[in-house]
Amino acid sequence: RLLIIDFGSQVTQLIARRLRELNVYCEIHPYQNVTDAFLRDFAPKAVIFSGGPASVLDEGSPRPPQSVFDLGVPILGICYGQQVMMQMLGGRVERGHGTAEFGRAYVTPEEDRIDLLKGWFTENREQVWMSHGDHVAEIAPGFAVYGTSPNAPFAITADLSRNFFAVQFHPEVHHTPNGKTLYENFVRLAGFTGDWTMGAYREEAIRKIREQVGDAKVICALSGGVDSSVAAALLHEAVGDQLTCVFVDHGLLRLNEADEVVAMFRDHMNLHVIHAQEQDLFLGELEGVSDPETKRKTIGRLFIDVFQKYADQIEGARFLAQGTLYPDVIESVSFSGGPSVTIKSHHNVGGLPEKMGLKLVEPLRELFKDEVRALGHELGLPASFIGRHPFPGPGLAIRCPGEITREKLEILRKADAVYIDQIRKHGLYDEIWQAFVAILPVRTVGVMGDGRTYDYACALRAVTSVDGMTADYYPFTHDFLGETATRIINEVKGINRVTYDITSKPPGTIEWE
Ligand code: XMP
Repeated sequence: RLLIIDFGSQVTQLIARRLRELNVYCEIHPYQNVTDAFLRDFAPKAVIFSGGPASVLDEGSPRPPQSVFDLGVPILGICYGQQVMMQMLGGRVERGHGTAEFGRAYVTPEEDRIDLLKGWFTENREQVWMSHGDHVAEIAPGFAVYGTSPNAPFAITADLSRNFFAVQFHPEVHHTPNGKTLYENFVRLAGFTGDWTMGAYREEAIRKIREQVGDAKVICALSGGVDSSVAAALLHEAVGDQLTCVFVDHGLLRLNEADEVVAMFRDHMNLHVIHAQEQDLFLGELEGVSDPETKRKTIGRLFIDVFQKYADQIEGARFLAQGTLYPDVIESVSFSGGPSVTIKSHHNVGGLPEKMGLKLVEPLRELFKDEVRALGHELGLPASFIGRHPFPGPGLAIRCPGEITREKLEILRKADAVYIDQIRKHGLYDEIWQAFVAILPVRTVGVMGDGRTYDYACALRAVTSVDGMTADYYPFTHDFLGETATRIINEVKGINRVTYDITSKPPGTIEWE
């Protein structure tokens, strides 16, 4: 496996992506964690130093341990990684005075082409993405220059006798269009054959889970979302009946959702699932609550109480399984600036593990979302399940602005089901990040047949997004919208007006509350 030492670059994750695309298994670790002992244990077959915002000329700036250069494995330094490498190996770095380079640049090759650059230069120059203030002024002994750009005379350098490579630009970003070739050459010369597959990951993950858990019992809060579903399926494969899932039904789920999730995991996948029917508790406590934050807090608090109540009945439970993903881990590393990587993983069931004295099992923490989907597929979860739109923990509560009543929830469920059916029928489901109906706290006047109606208005929402952080509304055709409005009003008693929400995020959010 390959080790990426993270010096805090915004794009370190992309290095991991590029390598995974080449079927090479790699892990990112923040430089603070990489000690001599860590390196010995990890035993990487190759190492990459990421970029980073610091200047190697500042006191206390990040460094890898010197012993990394004695491992005898290929090393690739990128941007800050290049500079740190040069400085530690006896070269010299200078502050940029008018020589900073940000953005597109062109590198031209020098001397003979080396293995790292095989097939890379399509013409006599290659577009790259630069983002640096300091620059290397003198390369370290043993290194030679293999590519230059107007402001970076040492754009590509290498010590071929040791397989150390150092580049000033970022090969991992989109604006270095052929950057993947560099990574491919690097991993080939490090001896990776590109045989890392989801099947291999599954085997490895199962082995690790068994090692961690032993014969202890594990509990898992199953929501029916992709992450917790894949985590549960994997855990089940690893420890079988030692796993118990708790599915909390808070009465704020979509039409037939609870039955579908429970049936699928209990009957189809043979998991031990406790279906916690706590609709009355949640809806009771939410009665009369219309403030969005109070709703969220109430639901969060009750969720923990309920989960704990059921978990307490499982004798000998020592582990809590969570579907924490890689981006969550990285985000919390960069925000906390240190090894306290658990901040966000507690987020879903806030504080539960400490409160209950449970240890965490997080078998997906090395995976990206699309890899989790691939793993789910590998584990035999149906495609319709793996491709589902995200659904928020507080459920329909935040799609029902104002006071929540059973009547409104009933109407909302029906309208939502018609809307999603329309989207599926038109083959649009997979193009959309998330789609749902919100029931509005207003009634409006309408006319149906010969009669007057006075019913709820609803809003349809559909957005495209990459990560949920920003989003744009989905450009349905007017025909689609018209047909959907007609169906909802005809099929759902209680709604007589349909609107389409065309707000992007920002300034709106995806959910209404
Ligand atoms: P917003 O509304 O903030 O939503 O634009 C962004 C994404 O996050 C989901 N979301 C949640 N997911 N618990 C969750 O698990 C929550 O409390 C929660 N609130 C919002 C939302 O559905 C969208 O995908």
